[in-house]
Amino acid sequence: MNGFSLSNKLNLTSLPTPLEPLFNLSRALGIDLWIKRDDLTSPAGGGNKVRKLEFLLAEAVSQAARAVITIGAVQSNHCRQTSLLARKLGMEAHLVLVGETPSRPEGNLLLSQLGGAVFHFGSRDFEEGQTNLQRITQELKELDKRPYLIPYGGSNRLGVQGYMAAYEELQEQARIRGISFDWIVHSSSSGGTQAGLLLAQEIIGGNEKVIGISAGPCAADLITNITALIRDTAQFLAVPSTLTTAGILIRDQFVGPGYAYLDGKTVDAIRIMARQEAILLDPVYTGKAFAGLLALARTHQVGRHVLFWHTGGIPALYSFADALGRIGANGCSD
Ligand SMILES: Cc1ncc(COP(=O)(O)O)c(C=O)c1O
Repeated sequence: MNGFSLSNKLNLTSLPTPLEPLFNLSRALGIDLWIKRDDLTSPAGGGNKVRKLEFLLAEAVSQAARAVITIGAVQSNHCRQTSLLARKLGMEAHLVLVGETPSRPEGNLLLSQLGGAVFHFGSRDFEEGQTNLQRITQELKELDKRPYLIPYGGSNRLGVQGYMAAYEELQEQARIRGISFDWIVHSSSSGGTQAGLLLAQEIIGGNEKVIGISAGPCAADLITNITALIRDTAQFLAVPSTLTTAGILIRDQFVGPGYAYLDGKTVDAIRIMARQEAILLDPVYTGKAFAGLLALARTHQVGRHVLFWHTGGIPALYSFADALGRIGANGCSD
């Protein structure tokens, strides 16, 4: 490690994930665009949460937990990856799922069900979900399941370390390829990914602008969360950090109608990435993040060497089939 040493972790995926140039999109946008393929973290359908879970589930194992419990939206990628990996490690997986109970499992929910997760539906919003999370955790304690509670999005001082390690991984890949990025653009929601990238960058001394495109929260809330995560992780690891809210860059204008609501710009962005680069994006996170990147690039608001960090989420595509088929033009004209 260069400047920091991290907590114990499990090896749950093959790293590094690929760093690839996007030639067609670079030509179309007039920038040098690359992609970091965290959609290809292998187990449990891929995505950014595996990096966080390497640290979180290491603690669950060290505490001899017999059950893992977490919370998320019904189509949560985090819940899918957590439940499948907890089961692989021999623990029960309990998911408190916020939102309407679907008539049948699709997308992420289907994969969590295949992996043997126990679903706890009935929370209409996150506040109610948190109350139910506490209640069910207590019930599991009484059953001597020694539950290990993972917060929303896997974002705490352990989860953040997944993206500290990821930043270091990127630096090494960029050094080998002889590239230096001006910008890193990625989807941000519970804030752990961005907190990890920024804290590692501060310690190592990188210069990229790290732009989080919000999938739902307003910029002010997300900045507050990321600041708290950075402070807590820095204190836990005993590393200095002077990052202030001014150093945390969030764009929240690409959320569209709201978290997990699809708009035309997101559908366009998904189609453009699929047609130009044969890479799939998801409707809730990476589609919106890439719609943001496209808008910024087209208005010359990004630098020359840009990295789009793909954070996964593709299983959710299958639960949006109706909306994706309905919105905008189909066919091969663009
Ligand atoms: C596919 C995908 N991308 C990005 C994010 C956002 O990451 P974070 O919650 O660390 O901000 C999530 C979070 O659920 C996700 O599932």
